[in-house]
Amino acid sequence: MPDQGLCTVIVGCQWGDEGKGKIVDVLAENVDIVARYQGGANAGHTVHVGSAEFILHQIPSGILHEGKRCLLGNGVVLDVQQFFEEYDALVARGIDMEGRVGVSRRAQLLMPYHKMMDKALEDSAAEKIGTTGRGIGPAYEDKAGRRGVRVADLANPGRLVQRIDAAKARICERLNEMGVGTEELDRAMDVTLALGERLLSLATDVGPEISAALKADRRVLLEGAQGTALDLDHGTYPFVTSSNTTAAAAATGTGIGPTSIDRVIGVVKAYTTRVGEGPLPSAFEPEMDAHIRELGAEFGATTGRPRRCGWFDSVLTRYASQVNGLTGVAVTKLDVLDTLSELQIATAYRMPDGSVTERFPADTWSLSAVEPVYETMPGWESPTGHVRKLEDLPKNARAYLDRIEELTNAPVDWVSVGSKRSQIIPVG
Ligand code: IMP
Repeated sequence: MPDQGLCTVIVGCQWGDEGKGKIVDVLAENVDIVARYQGGANAGHTVHVGSAEFILHQIPSGILHEGKRCLLGNGVVLDVQQFFEEYDALVARGIDMEGRVGVSRRAQLLMPYHKMMDKALEDSAAEKIGTTGRGIGPAYEDKAGRRGVRVADLANPGRLVQRIDAAKARICERLNEMGVGTEELDRAMDVTLALGERLLSLATDVGPEISAALKADRRVLLEGAQGTALDLDHGTYPFVTSSNTTAAAAATGTGIGPTSIDRVIGVVKAYTTRVGEGPLPSAFEPEMDAHIRELGAEFGATTGRPRRCGWFDSVLTRYASQVNGLTGVAVTKLDVLDTLSELQIATAYRMPDGSVTERFPADTWSLSAVEPVYETMPGWESPTGHVRKLEDLPKNARAYLDRIEELTNAPVDWVSVGSKRSQIIPVG
């Protein structure tokens, strides 16, 4: 397995759902701490252990490895009720959680009124984003607007109530103006606030904890959620999530300095998928779309929505390589392409004005109108799920990976050919 370095970031390089959870799960075996640095319950990291399937929304995927410490950084917006449902479900399935989970005192609390507002905004929007409905946008709005409530506030009930009342009143007023009733909110708020003490018992200072671990030569994985093209600054704005998903956010979202990060692994699916609204330049024709969705089980882990599917887009992954400063790549779901006789890779875009670019355009509406320039490669037309060594992959599959590496501008370090832990092939 390629050398780990002490501090590694795992980041999605497409529109999320690249299989980051699976890569984190495998790498977690050799680390001491796994920390999430942004997002909230919009994430859905699916991990298979033996015949068991786990879908993790807020707790880092490292939790499935005995003894690893799992942290949620300050960049996270924490849905307390859902967090403990997930926590208790893991306990019920026999995972020893004692002393293993820590939550940053600086993490924002995502409140029931954020979820109500997220849904109301989506329902009323002329141009929908297709959010997961988990309250992410409104929670980050309150954070940026300095109206948010943080884990540390739970220690001061007086101030907590004051701040929540102010933020809640503001959102309820807007909801009522939009014709949305808020009668059910009080019960949901009671449930959330009743969990405050329990959450406080997990509170920690994530930055100092990670820094101390690194100083003691312990290994740390910083686990991203969503993907580069959903980053608030670098993604297909406004069809993005409301946090910075890219690697630099791993430092701000946990409270360590960027110089502490040794390695950035970008996870790319061997093809492209997207859930929610917004452009997908290399989208398949409808028949192929349905075929790959079926083969790859491309349905959202959080919402169950069907994902749109398309060819591998190297314009995007090259951009992701630059934005994230990738030191390596993990290619997932190669096996889903096993039956195809021919594959296409988007290498450039023909812009609406006829010019050709290899750069990912900033203007999302132009991106919606580009025509990808494709390169065709022969398929391998044989199963790969049983392969455990790179040299045992069919020649055409290796050529496809070589081309991904070349076009993405970062070495392929891992390839996954199935959902089991044993189906991840280390390269080099
Ligand atoms: P939000 O993060 O729920 O606000 O959703 C904003 C956009 O990000 C929508 O297009 C969602 O479908 C997408 N999104 C959010 N989380 C994920 C994820 O974990 N995987 C894939 N897409 C996501």
